[in-house]
Amino acid sequence: MSVGSEIGVAQLEADPYPIYEQLRAEAPVCHVDSVGLWLVTRWDDVQYVDKSPDLFTGETEPSTLNRTFGKNLLGSEGAYHARIRSIIYPWFRVGAIGAYPDTVIAPIANELVDAFSERGSADLVSEFAEPLSARVLKQALGLEFVEEETLRRWFVELATGAANFEGDPEKQKIADAASAEVNETVAPVIERLEREPDDTLLSSMVNTDVDGERLTLEEVQANLKVMIVGGLQAATDLIALSLWAILSHPEQLEEVRRDPALVDPAIEEAARWHSPVGTSTRQTTRETELGGVTLEQGALVAAVLASANRDERNWTDPDRYDIHRREGGHLAFATGPHLCIGARLARYETRTAWRVLLDRLPDLRLDPEHPIEITGWEFRSPHHLHVQWN
Ligand code: HEM
Repeated sequence: MSVGSEIGVAQLEADPYPIYEQLRAEAPVCHVDSVGLWLVTRWDDVQYVDKSPDLFTGETEPSTLNRTFGKNLLGSEGAYHARIRSIIYPWFRVGAIGAYPDTVIAPIANELVDAFSERGSADLVSEFAEPLSARVLKQALGLEFVEEETLRRWFVELATGAANFEGDPEKQKIADAASAEVNETVAPVIERLEREPDDTLLSSMVNTDVDGERLTLEEVQANLKVMIVGGLQAATDLIALSLWAILSHPEQLEEVRRDPALVDPAIEEAARWHSPVGTSTRQTTRETELGGVTLEQGALVAAVLASANRDERNWTDPDRYDIHRREGGHLAFATGPHLCIGARLARYETRTAWRVLLDRLPDLRLDPEHPIEITGWEFRSPHHLHVQWN
């Protein structure tokens, strides 16, 4: 039996890292039957996949993303992708959201901490990371009037469609209903923003003109859904994973407390060590060779970012969390044309979350009564993060 036929989904969900290590050593490009994907696990090969959209396209056929959201930047390549990205990107520049940490994120984070600071204990996932990420995203997108619960439901239902590789009509019905609901909800808002622009991402998508090119109504709606799916869970997960990483290394936490300049490298190292988004999914446009394996045209390929970030060919002692590591950038936000457009916002959220918690909760530490359980391979995160302070 080949290595790939022995790997089960449950094993990947529980802890994919030992599997990735074995694959990197024995079968760096390997068909894993249980997930129906070729897993590409070495640093160089993952970079190659992400940076070769002519060979490994994000415009898969069928495209679960385009089918569910409408044609969007993550499900397209080439000139179309470049046009959409050039119109959407300006809102994410430092000049546009540089004040976000102080004006938007810190006030929300402080309000959340106010609700539990007297208590001496909390679950930093449900009481902090989740609501922080949802409220920041609502404000950023211009959907403040949408209930947090509704945003979360949209996320779940749209993500159901995005992951519906088997084309299950029941799942698609749920996703299509959510998609229609988002369209209906934002249509009047878009109409108003055309007359009265504001500083939100939605307004920017509606009104930005690059060389005479604008997004159509359908494109605004489709890309808004990508932002909902890409920007909610992953940001929650990075906040939670990074806090768990530093809290489970008390000596390094002490160093960060003494020298706040270490906050940024400590967060980047956490994103490398436990990457919230596991893969870039692509499809080959023609027969091609990778890692000694011939992939047929149309093969579905997952470039495993989380594995590249632990590749011993690129990192010294890769399983160790080390805030002093200086070995270059990681791939948690992918690379190439689909490099995460929201990375700056996600970093602002995480850094601000750390700053507020470390300032306000003295002697913050993990609660020994509640061991942390981290699961998932495509999206990996702790479901709870129980902590205590004095
Ligand atoms: C820690 C949080 C985040 C992580 C780890 C993350 C990760 C990623 C990754 C790995 C990709 C590339 C996917 C691929 O290659 O197939 C990506 C793309 C993308 N992300 Fe994020 N993301 C995060 C936060 C956000 C936020 C906050 C937003 C928006 C508000 C966002 C919006 C997007 C969009 C629109 C794309 C597609 C870009 C394109 O196709 O050109 N992400 N993200």
